[in-house]
Amino acid sequence: MQRLPTPPAPPAPVPQWWRDAVVYQIYVRSFSDSDGDGIGDLDGIRARLGYLELLGVDAIWLTPFYTSPMADHGYDVADPRDVDPVFGDLAAFDRLIADAHEHGLRVTIDLVPNHTSSEHEWFRAALDSAPGSPERARYHFRRGRGPNGDEPPNNWQSVFGGPAWTRVQDPDGSPGEWYLHLFAPEQPDLNWTNPEVWADLEKTLRFWLDRGVDGFRIDVAHGMSKPPDLPDAREDREPSHDGERWAASVVEPDPRFDHDDVHGVHRMIRAVLDHYPGRLVVGEVWVGDSARFSRYMRSDELHLGFNFRLVRAPFEAAAIRTAIEQSLAAVAGVGAPAAWTLSNHDVSRPVTRYGGGVTGLARARAMALVELALPGVVYLYNGEELGLPDVELPDETLQDPVWELSGHTRRGRDRCRVPMPWEGSAPGFGFTSGDPWLPMPPDYGKLVAAEQLEDTASMLSLVRRAIELRNTHPGFDGEELEWFGAPEGCFAFRRAGTTLVCALNTSTDVVPLPPGEAILASGPLTDGMLPPDTAAWLA
Ligand code: NOJ
Repeated sequence: MQRLPTPPAPPAPVPQWWRDAVVYQIYVRSFSDSDGDGIGDLDGIRARLGYLELLGVDAIWLTPFYTSPMADHGYDVADPRDVDPVFGDLAAFDRLIADAHEHGLRVTIDLVPNHTSSEHEWFRAALDSAPGSPERARYHFRRGRGPNGDEPPNNWQSVFGGPAWTRVQDPDGSPGEWYLHLFAPEQPDLNWTNPEVWADLEKTLRFWLDRGVDGFRIDVAHGMSKPPDLPDAREDREPSHDGERWAASVVEPDPRFDHDDVHGVHRMIRAVLDHYPGRLVVGEVWVGDSARFSRYMRSDELHLGFNFRLVRAPFEAAAIRTAIEQSLAAVAGVGAPAAWTLSNHDVSRPVTRYGGGVTGLARARAMALVELALPGVVYLYNGEELGLPDVELPDETLQDPVWELSGHTRRGRDRCRVPMPWEGSAPGFGFTSGDPWLPMPPDYGKLVAAEQLEDTASMLSLVRRAIELRNTHPGFDGEELEWFGAPEGCFAFRRAGTTLVCALNTSTDVVPLPPGEAILASGPLTDGMLPPDTAAWLA
């Protein structure tokens, strides 16, 4: 009898490297400029890889660097498979990936599947084509309401302000259909019932995976699918996806987001990634309901979903503890790690959010220790490690589309996007030799990275040491938390089965520290006591 050939060994299981990783978000425009045009770029990032290695992060997330007219600074993508000249070119991207890998850093990139730029060839073709044409069917074009179709097809508002619909002319020049854009008019929403749209995203995924990326962050991962009849939203609704008014109460359901069919899109993305072991997909999921949120992290969908509960929590121990417990509970049932974030390019920076000045900085330092003690994935936003505050920018320098689209009622997100101060005291602070795209305030000179690296009391030194301990101390093993009794306005927790305790004091009183030796503290500790606005790790 002929013997059957031995079947090939199954592929070795690839560890989910991200399960306890620290990922550093780079807002590409604001990180480091290599050519003096005042805008950060890919070669600029490459020149700073040594800094990221020193900081100790495991991976970077690059915000969109694709061809774009920059109506929303890259989140309006005209060609998702090419690099915008302002950021470099594909060769610069390949150099960056290769060097990052040599520095032991994984590279994840942003994908924007909810919408394209209005300069995308598909949208230009849609405008040149007649209502009902296949070109228009890749987007959401509808006739308007009212006798002459003069009113938008429904009452949806854009996240940035104003109606979510813009009217176009028919090819013959007469007033025509309206198209849907949940963000700026330059960001038309794609129609995710159209197979061409699916095929194109799959092509984009493979394009970058084949170039060696280690994963993706999916923009508006709770968007994409829309209810087929596009029903009106409740008139009394607060915006549930609003980067600027992040503290607004979430009122769901919101017909613009979290439609059930979006899960099919995530299953497609995951199926592609499963052919590339060890690659990560994380989604931006602004869904407040825990049960609905966790559906995005089912075993055949996203690996991770950003949890924004910590961003929303005020600096109060009880609220922070609730945010942590709810976040952990949300993902526990689906076996995904939590993905923590205190800061990103859409929300006010922690130092400012927690009160600004000395107090805001003390609290931001304390929260960095809390976040880095948690099980799961920690996302740090560039400049968070320097304790940068928001910058109050003059009106005439504002660039976020939110400013114009809200009729100058919301100043937008530029305040948390001011470029990184690297070194020196001259304007530009090592970010650029030219004029930075947003003005950098003179007092950034006190926060430059080069000096903070030398100063053991700086926020940068604190974050660096915390990441080092997180990576090496056995107190960070395990994924479950145990909470201790603590005075009013305080909490203390440790990973179950370990001895490292993280204690936080958000009250106005000095309180006794839990037992143990303090191995790291966000501020000075005196005589076994934990002062207000301070956190400590005790072993
Ligand atoms: C979420 C991104 O984080 C934000 O910056 C962008 O404006 C919107 N999605 C639209 O793409």
